[in-house]
Amino acid sequence: MVVRILGIETSCDETAAAVVEDGRVVRSSVVSSQIDLHARFGGVVPEVASRAHAALIGSVVHDALVEAGVGFGDLDAVAACHGPGLAGALLVGVSAAKAVALVQDIPYVGVNHLEAHLYAAWMERPDLQLPLAILVVSGGHTLVVVMEGHGRYRVVGETVDDAAGEAFDKVARHLGLGYPGGPAIDALSDVGDPAAIRFPRAMPGEADLSFAGLKTAVVNHVRAHPEAAVADVAASFQEAVVDQLTAKLLVAADAAGARTLVLGGGVAANRRLRTRVAELADATGRDAFLPPAALCTDNGAMIAAAAWWRLRAGDATGLEHGVDPNLRLPATG
Ligand code: KG4
Ligand code: ZN
Repeated sequence: MVVRILGIETSCDETAAAVVEDGRVVRSSVVSSQIDLHARFGGVVPEVASRAHAALIGSVVHDALVEAGVGFGDLDAVAACHGPGLAGALLVGVSAAKAVALVQDIPYVGVNHLEAHLYAAWMERPDLQLPLAILVVSGGHTLVVVMEGHGRYRVVGETVDDAAGEAFDKVARHLGLGYPGGPAIDALSDVGDPAAIRFPRAMPGEADLSFAGLKTAVVNHVRAHPEAAVADVAASFQEAVVDQLTAKLLVAADAAGARTLVLGGGVAANRRLRTRVAELADATGRDAFLPPAALCTDNGAMIAAAAWWRLRAGDATGLEHGVDPNLRLPATG
């Protein structure tokens, strides 16, 4: 029997809802971005985000149902991201999901945002071979994770300062490329020389990462060389980030004996990172799975997919559970 789940995501600046069947068939996925609202502030303003989610959630959920050709009565469960993220933003999605659960008398599943990014890959490739070495690289998080089984993860590395996406956004802002910075740097790097400037590649212990020094190096370089071509700076910065990310992914894969490399999170949409991870897999006799960009950036489908695996394990969430802005990936051994 088909299990149809409505997934809602409102942890940051995307109001998103999707209907997914059996954890993998995406019947609809609606994402309403607030980028334009936050762009003039150069980043996400929490109160502005909460208000926008509250204004948009009704129509986004409605559109997701219409696009999927189903009504509330056709849902078997409803899921929402309950952390990590902005408290007020999370509350909007969680409250909406609980209301649907109550009225329809169906299970509610509170989903960890990071776990959802891991599950983006499983929608397209339910046959992935465990263990997986996964880079979760977004605006708020940068983790190197070994996935040993469903619900069984080991965080083997983490950024010690900025998240990778945050570094892209800050550097782009400094270069006058606007917000969000990742896509702008990705595009501009096409016409820049990645070897033009040798920026530092910080290599803290094991699989940990660090981007603060790199960001400062870019700022200092631009100050000292105002004549430097912006495209060269962008491409050289991007290359330094990608060098670091791929090096740490390899450390994790080697340590865990993982045969498959996976990307998740907004920065996984970066074309240079995707190319380099594919090359790394080829060079080391591994398989690489790079989910389509639309599943890498925040969306409701990944929430519904992660909820399906949770429900299979009998893990519905009680309606008394609230949101947790600092939720961590559940670590297991
Ligand atoms: O996962 P996501 O949509 O939201 C968070 O959970 O943070 O990630 C957003 C981040 C932003 O920092 C954005 O600049 C970055 O992902 N990003 C990219 C690209 N597309 C989005 N970074 C590098 N290259 C891209 N093509
Ligand atoms: Zn995210």
